Amino acid sequence: MPKNISLWMATAPESSFPVLSGDTTCDVCVIGGGIAGVIAAYQLDQAGFSVALVESHQTCGGVTGYTTAKVTSGHRLIYNQLFNDQSPRSAQAYADANQWGLEWIASTAESLAIDCDLERKDMLVFAENSEELEQVQKEFESAKNVGLPVTWAETAGLPFPTLGALRFADQIQFHARKFVLALASKLVASRGRIFENTRALEVNEDRTSSQVITDKGTVHAKFVVVASHYPIYDPAFFIARLAPYRDYAVAAKINGPLPAEMSIGAGESSKSFRTQASPDGDLLIVSGEAHKAGQEPNTKQRYANLENYTRSIFDVESIPYRWSAQDNETPDAMPYIGRITSGSEGCFVITGFNAWGMSTAGFAGRIVADLITGKANEWSEVFDPNRFKGMESLKSVVSENVNAVKHLIGDKFSDVEKKEIGSLEPGQAAILKVDGEKVAAFRDSAGVLHSISPICTHIGCDIGWNSAEETWDCPCHGSRFDIDGRVLHGPAVKDLERKV
Ligand code: FES
Repeated sequence: MPKNISLWMATAPESSFPVLSGDTTCDVCVIGGGIAGVIAAYQLDQAGFSVALVESHQTCGGVTGYTTAKVTSGHRLIYNQLFNDQSPRSAQAYADANQWGLEWIASTAESLAIDCDLERKDMLVFAENSEELEQVQKEFESAKNVGLPVTWAETAGLPFPTLGALRFADQIQFHARKFVLALASKLVASRGRIFENTRALEVNEDRTSSQVITDKGTVHAKFVVVASHYPIYDPAFFIARLAPYRDYAVAAKINGPLPAEMSIGAGESSKSFRTQASPDGDLLIVSGEAHKAGQEPNTKQRYANLENYTRSIFDVESIPYRWSAQDNETPDAMPYIGRITSGSEGCFVITGFNAWGMSTAGFAGRIVADLITGKANEWSEVFDPNRFKGMESLKSVVSENVNAVKHLIGDKFSDVEKKEIGSLEPGQAAILKVDGEKVAAFRDSAGVLHSISPICTHIGCDIGWNSAEETWDCPCHGSRFDIDGRVLHGPAVKDLERKV
């Protein structure tokens, strides 16, 4: 487990679905029990398919358990970017799909009577300097052009100067984990099945069916949906076109009024804000401080920066929760949703949320269900995961991952620390040599030494220490491991070798 537990993990019960026992058969096997996987599984169940979902840990205990859970179609400056870099059609599809996704979540929570602290709130994208103001004004025009419910606001209603803001009306904030866990129960109460602590290791496809091989048995399915955040099955070469990032959140008890709306700054390094009721009272959630996963040597400093920032703006009484999350970015800021192979009945992927996974999860399952049933879907083409094939933009796709390649090659020659393993103090970690062999070692607060192979089981980059979470993180594609080498986050599916 990561060291810092989110507000969402701390305030919703643990799930308890069974482990897969032996082989089973279904129409659709969904890999991944986060919001994208559970919603897709539910939507496919409602479309008439028998669904089996496999989750390597517990339902909604991974990235969705560490989100900020804003469900909105206001995604910083996306519409202007899509008008400029792609087409009005792409911008329109993106807007329509995200609005549909958020309304699906709202109407589903209502019709299924899911108690998930769902509130309608406006979402503001604000400017803090004149350059950002110009960008936000352009975004206002672009968002209006695609028919989104936007108005202009002179300020963002935050206790620091803002020059103007774009306001998206009637968006949603909720407790994502309460929603997903309740939806998972509804899925099982229908005819769906969920298997937890069941790790998908590989997918085999043949002409008529597929097999999802797990560590507990095999799921035979006509269709497979890979919704494991970073895809654990990669026939479409996502490792060249997904860039994993981490960012940070604090939930603070504030003396004085809380912001009335959700908001986010237009600048890349600006922060995002929302509120949430909790057993500790009403809290303000502030998030930011993003960096490439596995490439920040001082993750504790990132928390400190965010906490200091929050204290500089608000009168903070306490910070009862803090956490970090991971997200995958794509070169064109659009997620990948759709069919990735057609060798069998079909394998589909849902990934690359660019930090906006809630509304995306709301519509991704509908695209997959429509593609499987052959129903026309007005959004599927722009989210097609194969959209870079033969395109000039493939250059930027590949360059996005040049630094992953650098790590893959460069890490092999990197210096190990010249210290003895026995000299590690409690709380210290290092990559060092033991009997001529590289070892990743950590001594815990009880003085116990944990030593493992430092070579990531995905494709072999060297892992690095994340001091804030006390995990080993891979700089290439964002796999994460606990102190004993167990996989916390893919694409790796195999644990690191333990050393003595
Ligand atoms: Fe790809 Fe580690 S995540 S090599």
